[in-house]
Amino acid sequence: MKEAVIFDLDGVIVSTDEYHYKAWKKLADEEDIYFDTQINQKLRGVSRLESLEIILKKTNKTYTEEEKENLAQRKNNYYRELLKSLNHEDILPGVLNVLDALKEKRIKIAIGSSSKNTGTILKKIGLDKIFNAVVDGNQIKNSKPDPEVFLLAAKALGVEPLKCVVIEDADAGIKAALAAEMKAVAVGDAQSNMNSSYRLSDLTKIDINKLLEDG
Ligand code: BG6
Ligand code: MG
Repeated sequence: MKEAVIFDLDGVIVSTDEYHYKAWKKLADEEDIYFDTQINQKLRGVSRLESLEIILKKTNKTYTEEEKENLAQRKNNYYRELLKSLNHEDILPGVLNVLDALKEKRIKIAIGSSSKNTGTILKKIGLDKIFNAVVDGNQIKNSKPDPEVFLLAAKALGVEPLKCVVIEDADAGIKAALAAEMKAVAVGDAQSNMNSSYRLSDLTKIDINKLLEDG
C-alpha cells in the first residue's frame, strides 16, 4: 500500500486553473496574440515563464528578456487580482472528503505545485495547515514534466518515491510523476491520459483503497 499522496494544486485542489486561463487570455488579447482553451491545455503544470514562451509561439513579434519578464509579471498581476475573491468554496468537489479519509488512515499528504502563488492560495482556501509538506514553484529549478517537485515533496515527507501517489490534472504532471517513479492518478482534464493508472472526472467518486493500492 502507498504511504503518501502528493496533490497538484491548480485544477486538483482548487479551480484556479480557470483563473490562469482568464489572466493569460487578457494578456494575449492586449498583445494581439491568438490564444484559446486548446493552447491553454499545454500550460497546465508548466511554469509562468515557460507558459509565456508557449503563448509567444503564436506571434511573429519578438520580445527582449526584460519585456518577457514584464509580460509574465502583468499576467501574474491579473491572476492575483482574480485570486482576491478566492475562498473555501472554490475547493473542488470531493477534495475535503479525500483529505479527511487520508488523514484518518494516517497517510501523509503533500502539495507538489509549479505555482509560486501556492502559499497565497492555500491560505485563501483555508488549507494552509493541513498538508504535511508543501513544495511549490519557489523551491524548484525545473517545472513539470521534470520530476523535481514530486521528488522534493517525497523527501520532505520522508517517504520513498515508490510509496507515493500523485494526483494530477495535467499531462505534464502525469509525466513528472512517472519520471519520479510514482503512481499517477489523473483527474479532470487529464482523465484521458492513458499513462495514468487510475482516471477520474473529479474526486467525488474516488475509491481510497484503489488510490492507495500498489502498482
Ligand atoms: C501550475 C499551473 O500549477 O502553476 C500553471 O498549472 C501555472 O498553469 C504554474 O503556469 C505557475 O503558476 P504561477 O502561479 O507561479 O504563475
Ligand atoms: Mg494542475
